[in-house]
Amino acid sequence: MISEETTMVAERDDDTTLRRRHMLGLADYDRDEIELVLSTAREFREVLHRPIKRVPTLRDVTVVNLFFESSTRTRISFELAEKRLSADTVNFSASGSSVSKGETLKDTARNIEAMKIDMVVIRHRSPGAAQFLTSCVEAVVINAGDGAHEHPTQGLLDMLTMSDLFESFEGLNVSIIGDIAHSRVARSNIFGLNALGANVTVCGPQTMLPRGIEQLGVRATNRLDEALEGCDVAMALRIQLERQGVGLFPSLREYHTRFGIGLQHLERYKDLIIMHPGPVNRGVELASEVVDHERAVILNQVTNGVAVRMAVLYLLAAGVRSE
Ligand code: CP
Repeated sequence: MISEETTMVAERDDDTTLRRRHMLGLADYDRDEIELVLSTAREFREVLHRPIKRVPTLRDVTVVNLFFESSTRTRISFELAEKRLSADTVNFSASGSSVSKGETLKDTARNIEAMKIDMVVIRHRSPGAAQFLTSCVEAVVINAGDGAHEHPTQGLLDMLTMSDLFESFEGLNVSIIGDIAHSRVARSNIFGLNALGANVTVCGPQTMLPRGIEQLGVRATNRLDEALEGCDVAMALRIQLERQGVGLFPSLREYHTRFGIGLQHLERYKDLIIMHPGPVNRGVELASEVVDHERAVILNQVTNGVAVRMAVLYLLAAGVRSE
């Protein structure tokens, strides 16, 4: 139970920390660690329903949100999570900063750290940027999406959303549909869901399925119906329109015909739950009616994002005080 006077980070015992300094990805997270984040998030979610949605947990902790790539959900969600925990927050965007004058990630980060910050949340277009940052600064680093590598808090909020609907992950059938090759969301979900005992299928055009993807412990198919048959949760991924010129598939219309989920699929697969990390291209990966359907839990995912990020900040903040 998170009380009004929730324990400050310096006073916590080992059972309420991740015993990791940073959150870079879910590739090596085990079931217990993921369950700890999810159960902590459930407690923080209760705080979000109170009239005063704030606890003093991260008072005197300074967090910088370092966003080198566009974001709506993740950025606002982290900022809200930090404010709900009473942290001091600073937001940085690459545009309008000295990055546009040629400053490197390392120099930007070291200059910000010189102003005495404790935690950095980073989104960057380059895979490995969050890992690289850990070698440049003393602060705790949280990956908010690094290129096509990982987006761990998105994976965790997706798992929290699934856990609200299903009793167990053991044997749960989850199909991830779309551009698997370029998706950090797919990777974080594959790692996390595998650790929890779910069965993961990936589905998309051959050009969007990395060769050897089965080695990550998933089933792969190019046929949407094969991915949806017996499936509990279908997670559609954003088709990155900026990659259309590269020719990964002939046209958006053809993509929707072969891989888009429409009302006909919801009628055929009566219990199917629809998820999407956003932003959605209506009429491409999901028919517009599917986005707004009662079995689509896309906004639940967004709501859960704040609680998951509060949990991650709280669990990692132990590292801020233990230096
Ligand atoms: N799901 C997600 O990462 O969305 P944003 O790009 O808006 O943060």
